[in-house]
Amino acid sequence: MFTPSIVALLILLLEPASAGPLSRTPRPLQLRGPPRSFSHLRADGIFDYDWAHSQSQLVRAKYQHTAAIASKAAVLPNTLTVNRRASVSVPLVDYIQSGLDLEYYGTLNLGTPFQQVTVDFDTGSSDLWVPTLCVDSTTDVLKPAFNSSKSSSYEQTIEPFQIAYGSGEVVGTIASDTAMLSGFRVKSQYFGAVNVMSPQFLNDPASGILGLAFPQIAQTKQPPFMQQLYNAGVLDEPLFAFFLSRQEQGAVLSIGNTDSTHYTGGITYTPVTTQTYWEVQSTGSVVNGKAVQPSFKAAIDTGTTLIYLPSAATAALYKAIPGSREDSQQGTGMYAYPCNSNPTVAFTFAGSSNEYTIDLRDFNLGPSEEQGMCVGGVIAMDMKDTNGEPLAIIGDEFLKSWYSVYNFDGPKVGFAKAR
Ligand SMILES: *[C@@H]1O[C@H](CO)[C@@H](O)[C@H](O)[C@H]1NC(C)=O
Repeated sequence: MFTPSIVALLILLLEPASAGPLSRTPRPLQLRGPPRSFSHLRADGIFDYDWAHSQSQLVRAKYQHTAAIASKAAVLPNTLTVNRRASVSVPLVDYIQSGLDLEYYGTLNLGTPFQQVTVDFDTGSSDLWVPTLCVDSTTDVLKPAFNSSKSSSYEQTIEPFQIAYGSGEVVGTIASDTAMLSGFRVKSQYFGAVNVMSPQFLNDPASGILGLAFPQIAQTKQPPFMQQLYNAGVLDEPLFAFFLSRQEQGAVLSIGNTDSTHYTGGITYTPVTTQTYWEVQSTGSVVNGKAVQPSFKAAIDTGTTLIYLPSAATAALYKAIPGSREDSQQGTGMYAYPCNSNPTVAFTFAGSSNEYTIDLRDFNLGPSEEQGMCVGGVIAMDMKDTNGEPLAIIGDEFLKSWYSVYNFDGPKVGFAKAR
């Protein structure tokens, strides 16, 4: 009879001898693909449509990738035991470029003893991945990477890990190790040990990504870090929450409770409609106080900078702002509106009549080439959720105004006025 290790060996032998992701020999961290611009404004201060286009490509690829995984998902085991209940807060760094809050990241401890890696906390995906130096690697890396040969608890599987992101990709192997976030420790956290990545991630101040959505879209087919804490019953309250700062530091991820210093009034919840992303039902947009249809499903996504709506909903929204027009020449799904019209743009969600306004400082992405016109922060993109329904992606541009709560009990997403 085959023991598991013999089976593993056989699988390895079936691979070509040079198979990169499956090889146990030294694996240098490689770079593939074009670099990425981090500024949304050109040198002359005008909005850069090329930047917007590459951002859109990243978002599109992320959602196509995760939707494909969900179609193959299986039920996952509960792997943790309860020790104690607690709540913690994780300070986040706001990465600001040309006055735009591009992403928020923080520190994760990985391995035994702990090594610190920085990760972008992303409610729009469900995998943890970090650049990893594998056994005997002597490559010089240009950003902090996890050195697996320094960790006594590191275990590597033979399963490949790969995510395509439009113009780039990350490639590696599924591994597991001990992970700790501000005192919450998960003994065996599966992650993508990545050894090939495109320069767009190399330029990124965060080393990797920590996905906070549901296990159904995890490529590792293992519970995400936060899901493990919830399954184990160690959270004071079954939730985590984000305060995202605007053009200053102070952003915070709270785990196990909400941070009342960062919101006013009550938290109003809307149910999660499909447990893949933190996907909710928006009942439509509101422009200058008038309701605008159609409605749409929306993924609430801390890992996306801007806001993307189905093209019909986007067209209707800008139609309600007099003088606005599509930048059809650019073909990016972007619109411009008269800067002096100062529109009030809001969304509504199932379960309440609250109107959630996007702050004009965030909605206005900067001057368009046409005098007096500004580029609007709602962009047309036709994405589908895992049920084939049109899906909007509501990112940091919205979440800076609205403290957001991700509650496993429901599950449901809550919003309260951020401060
Ligand atoms: C990774 O750790 C090993 C073992 O401690 C060490 O020999 C090697 O130099 C480290 N690699 C890098 C790039 O730091």
